[in-house]
Amino acid sequence: MPKPDTATLPRHIAIIMDGNGRWAEQQGKPRIMGHRAGVESVQDIVRAARELGVGVLTLYAFSTENWKRPPLEVQALMGLLKSFLESELGTMVENNVSLRCLGQKDRIPAEVRKVMERVIQQTAGNTGLILNLALSYGGRSEITQAVQSIAQKCLDGTLIPEKIDQAVLEQHLYTAGLPDPDLLIRTGGEARLSNFLLWQASYAELYFTEILWPDFRKQDLLNAILDFQKRQRRYGKTGEQTEQTHPN
Ligand code: FPP
Repeated sequence: MPKPDTATLPRHIAIIMDGNGRWAEQQGKPRIMGHRAGVESVQDIVRAARELGVGVLTLYAFSTENWKRPPLEVQALMGLLKSFLESELGTMVENNVSLRCLGQKDRIPAEVRKVMERVIQQTAGNTGLILNLALSYGGRSEITQAVQSIAQKCLDGTLIPEKIDQAVLEQHLYTAGLPDPDLLIRTGGEARLSNFLLWQASYAELYFTEILWPDFRKQDLLNAILDFQKRQRRYGKTGEQTEQTHPN
């Protein structure tokens, strides 16, 4: 099996983990069994990203739209997240992984939020892989919230409208300080962004695969990275002008 070139790895990989429900249906099991199997893929992919030396891994675990799912499914997903965070804390500390969460924290049930905040705090000093969990996340809501805080600063007199540029907007996103994703993967056969990282994914290479998330494992991640490394990233320039792999 060919291996990715470590010098040109994506610094930030973002994943839309889709297909849990269909995976379960195919096996005649309830949808929640698909989410449960999906947690094993999460563990495998986090390990693989860490071992490879990827800087940031962002996983779309729960969208703002996912609140509309049947209450039992929402409850089960929140339960899985809580037990994942509880059981992974030790592994994260041991492996220098730091956890961050992006999304509407106030909508997350208190008992999940408490664990999440504890893990964030206890892993804050780690300098290896940044594991970014998107929870109750929506790209449009993120941008709207950023605009609201910028407008508030203008009203307070701490910012003037002429000073608002892309860098200022970026500083008000959940991902402030992180590089934009270089590679965005979606499993499960659909080819859309579903409100994920709308601002940040402007120049991401998109990789869509039919593989359902519970079947997506390390070798599939390596294949996506190999595909990424074959592409030429031009950022609007001509092929001859472009040699770099990152925009900044
Ligand atoms: C999409 O599949 C997946 C989700 C809405 C949830 C993803 C959650 C996990 C992988 C498990 C918990 C996460 C962590 C980080 C521990 P779908 O249900 O929309 O699948 P379908 O399109 O086949 O119905």
